[in-house]
Amino acid sequence: MTFLRQHLQSVSGYTPGEQPPPGSLVIKLNTNENPYPPSPEVFRVLQDFDLEWLRRYPDPTAIAFRQSASEVLDISPDSIVVGNGSDELISLIVRAFVEPGAAVVYPMPSYVLYRTVAQIQGARPVEIAYDDAFNFPLQAILEAQGAITLIASPNSPIGNVVSLEHLKTLAANLQGLLVIDEAYVDFTEKNALNLVQAHPNVIILRTLSKGYSLAGLRLGFAIAHPALIQDLNKIKDSYAVDAIATMVGAAAMRDQAHKTQNVEKVLRSRVTLHKNLASLGFQVWPSEGNFLLVQPPPCSKSADVGSGAAIALAQNLKTQGILIRHFNLPKVANKLRITVGTDAQNEQLYQTLSHHNKA
Ligand SMILES: Cc1ncc(COP(=O)(O)O)c(C=O)c1O
Repeated sequence: MTFLRQHLQSVSGYTPGEQPPPGSLVIKLNTNENPYPPSPEVFRVLQDFDLEWLRRYPDPTAIAFRQSASEVLDISPDSIVVGNGSDELISLIVRAFVEPGAAVVYPMPSYVLYRTVAQIQGARPVEIAYDDAFNFPLQAILEAQGAITLIASPNSPIGNVVSLEHLKTLAANLQGLLVIDEAYVDFTEKNALNLVQAHPNVIILRTLSKGYSLAGLRLGFAIAHPALIQDLNKIKDSYAVDAIATMVGAAAMRDQAHKTQNVEKVLRSRVTLHKNLASLGFQVWPSEGNFLLVQPPPCSKSADVGSGAAIALAQNLKTQGILIRHFNLPKVANKLRITVGTDAQNEQLYQTLSHHNKA
């Protein structure tokens, strides 16, 4: 017997990456967290936090955070809405703008949560395949004409950025909404923020989980024309973002220098990790995120280049205390996604893989 609504009975749900408890002695390269601590300003806010702010409900509009983001990004606070991570905003957007059975379009491989959210909301997920060389399937996405189209750029797990030209073409020619998920924007020079000015159907998603080292805080924000933001405000939970997240997020946002410093370290490490993995025979895709998509070299014993080899390698690393991520998705099932860690963590991974190669 089940009490679950009928359309949810076949939904498998999203499987998040493994989250071992803090303090576990693992090298955690599986969920694209930033390996460096957040801004010292974050610690200051937490130390000085007035408990009166916890006794009361938080400001539902999180104006303290929106003001900081508005100054940093040079956009009006009216163009910003906050969410409990960008994950919550993805759900909110589908809930707000997609009729039951209408198409939610996104390229694949991409962020698997898009599929889950579409299914949960009773929408119709339409997955448009990247080709084998991971060229962006612009034409097919245009033809699909989704009620909303979700484009991650930089895209996980591939690491590719979708060109501004392609995004402009989509914004101008889609009748529905274009959501550009910029969770990894801090690790690239490119972004599509300016499209919001010219296109009333564009929503940009940002998060403090990656560049700002605050994945545990759960704070994301959407940037769009104020009319769309008003629509989202109408249906969002009033208090989805708590008082701590609002104040901590505002402080982290104001400390751009700290974020830039951490990002630069990650980018330097990304180059070294790429080079080291390639030297071990891995195929490594160019990435503009804080992670690398890799295909392991054929296993010397079985010459297996399929998903079996990738899964076996991830499992083997896990037994040695290193977590990386495998996705059972078209085109990447024989590959693995590795988050860029600290240089020491990356070196440990490299040494472990070198021994694995020789074994
Ligand atoms: C493309 C993409 N969008 C959004 C998110 C989720 O971000 P948040 O932590 O803000 O919910 C992730 C997390 O890995 C992601 O890969």
